[in-house]
Amino acid sequence: MNHDLIERRIGLMGVLVAIVISIGGLVEIVPLYASGIVTQPAPGVKPYPALEVAGRDIYLREGCYNCHSQMVRPLRAETERYGHYSVAGESVYDHPFQFGSKRTGPDLARVGGRYSDEWHRIHLTNPRDLVPESNMPGYPWLQQTALDGNTVAAHMRALHRVGVPYTEAEMTAAPADVAGKTEQDALIAYLQGLGIAAKSWER
Ligand code: HEC
Repeated sequence: MNHDLIERRIGLMGVLVAIVISIGGLVEIVPLYASGIVTQPAPGVKPYPALEVAGRDIYLREGCYNCHSQMVRPLRAETERYGHYSVAGESVYDHPFQFGSKRTGPDLARVGGRYSDEWHRIHLTNPRDLVPESNMPGYPWLQQTALDGNTVAAHMRALHRVGVPYTEAEMTAAPADVAGKTEQDALIAYLQGLGIAAKSWER
């Protein structure tokens, strides 16, 4: 009977729906403001070193996120395949985060240490040399392109401005840290660092 009253008044129903959704949203969101778990780094998670910052920028530039997510969901099938599920504290230094939603290829959140650097070199140049059925594009130019150290330093300063705790010394040393490295070196360093902290966590 009461339902009937509400269902006949679409305006009233809209207001009530908005109230119910707002309460649900507040209950989920507000506690997170007070909880350090989403703003503090998870155990072992550190700001990316200069070379990995450069590698991450190349990951973004090349659009790797269009085919690869970086978020292991807390489901048995995923944790068996990839390792510990992703937690918010892993992404505190990611601006922007790379959770992604498209999985043409496997999730990469735990790919660090799964393959050798040499494997990645061959795979990034031409994936089909290692995985014949792969539809991932090759990125052969990465091994021919040198990094620009000043750009890397500038990006670290930008990250510092949004809260990543780099020291002045780390930012000043960035051009020297990446001197002589190629874009491929940087991207591989970034990939090899993904999920390393999570290896020490209990499942
Ligand atoms: C068009 C979709 C596509 C794009 C874009 C793409 N990949 Fe892939 N990737 C795949 C597929 C499919 C596989 C699985 C087959 C294989 O290993 O090649 C894969 C596999 C991988 C693997 C091995 C993962 C594992 O656990 O076996 C890595 C590492 C990887 N990709 C990195 C990258 C990087 C870095 C980029 C950007 C430079 C990139 N991919 C862009 C589709 C893509």
